[in-house]
Amino acid sequence: MEDLLRKNVKLNNGIDMPMVGLGTYKMTDPVEGANAIAAAINMGYRMIDTADYYNNQKIVAKGIEKSSKTREDLFITSKIWFTDQAHDDTIKAFNRILKELKTDYLDLVLVHWPSDKGTECYKALEELYNDKKIRAIGVSNYLEDDLKKLISEVDIVPMVDQVELHPLLPMVELQKFATKNKVHLESWRTMLNGEVAKIPYIEELAAKYETTPQAISLKWALQRGIIIIPKSVHEDRIKANATEINKFDLTKEEIQKINELGPETRLGPDPLTYGKEETK
Ligand SMILES: NC(=O)c1ccc[n+]([C@@H]2O[C@H](COP(=O)([O-])OP(=O)(O)OC[C@H]3O[C@@H](n4cnc5c(N)ncnc54)[C@H](OP(=O)(O)O)[C@@H]3O)[C@@H](O)[C@H]2O)c1
Repeated sequence: MEDLLRKNVKLNNGIDMPMVGLGTYKMTDPVEGANAIAAAINMGYRMIDTADYYNNQKIVAKGIEKSSKTREDLFITSKIWFTDQAHDDTIKAFNRILKELKTDYLDLVLVHWPSDKGTECYKALEELYNDKKIRAIGVSNYLEDDLKKLISEVDIVPMVDQVELHPLLPMVELQKFATKNKVHLESWRTMLNGEVAKIPYIEELAAKYETTPQAISLKWALQRGIIIIPKSVHEDRIKANATEINKFDLTKEEIQKINELGPETRLGPDPLTYGKEETK
């Protein structure tokens, strides 16, 4: 069976991005976090997803230092928070992020949430991309209308849109639109924070394939061509999340049935309203 930790997707600018990475949201204990990151890298994870907002970029740097790999072996993503979306603030935040991560470039930087300054932030990322300080740029939590507007206002079509996406929020229409525009979807909270086990059809499939419900939701996203970043601080889960997905393939009908499970449930903030007050 294919080791999916080795699998890449080609982004619209030709660079390769690993399809499976480690999420780090809420990984804020320095010892636990650095150990988790080092363990993940040592078992073959090549992509780490962080964000300025997570307040753990120094922990990510420590984890990389503790691991057996070097910076160049890895793909690191960070994100620019609402408060830094004005042009000069984005550049300043980016330079600070580099220092915290102990690196002189990033593989992917995303506008963390859409706002009235999202395009200004993205244009600053375009400059950093043109200066070769970032290998790929993109957005996060952009729905179809936000993406459409951004694409009409900027020079470089975003390479990635990272959105909440799981069996109760399959984002089928957004994926169609993104694919048509060469934007690659990346999924956050794919395992519903580990709670995906509560969905009876997911449980049924886990029993059928003798695997975990978490692996069913991760593989469902991967088979749809979506990049995943499951988060855990526990070595056994970090390993299971990356290996169980190699052991089975869902059928087309099963993928379709998960797409149609409903009712649509959003666990995180709604991009249509989140932060709109903060940016005024
Ligand atoms: N762009 C955005 O706005 C945005 C928003 C949220 C998240 N993200 C990114 O996406 C990543 C993934 O999302 P997420 O962390 O919110 O959710 P997630 O990966 O779906 O779930 C993480 C939670 O599930 C638990 N877990 C992990 N593996 C498990 C397993 N095999 N069995 C049972 N429980 C398990 C973890 O606990 P333990 O750690 O205790 O194992 C943690 O509480 C984040 O870490 C972050 O990098 C991006």
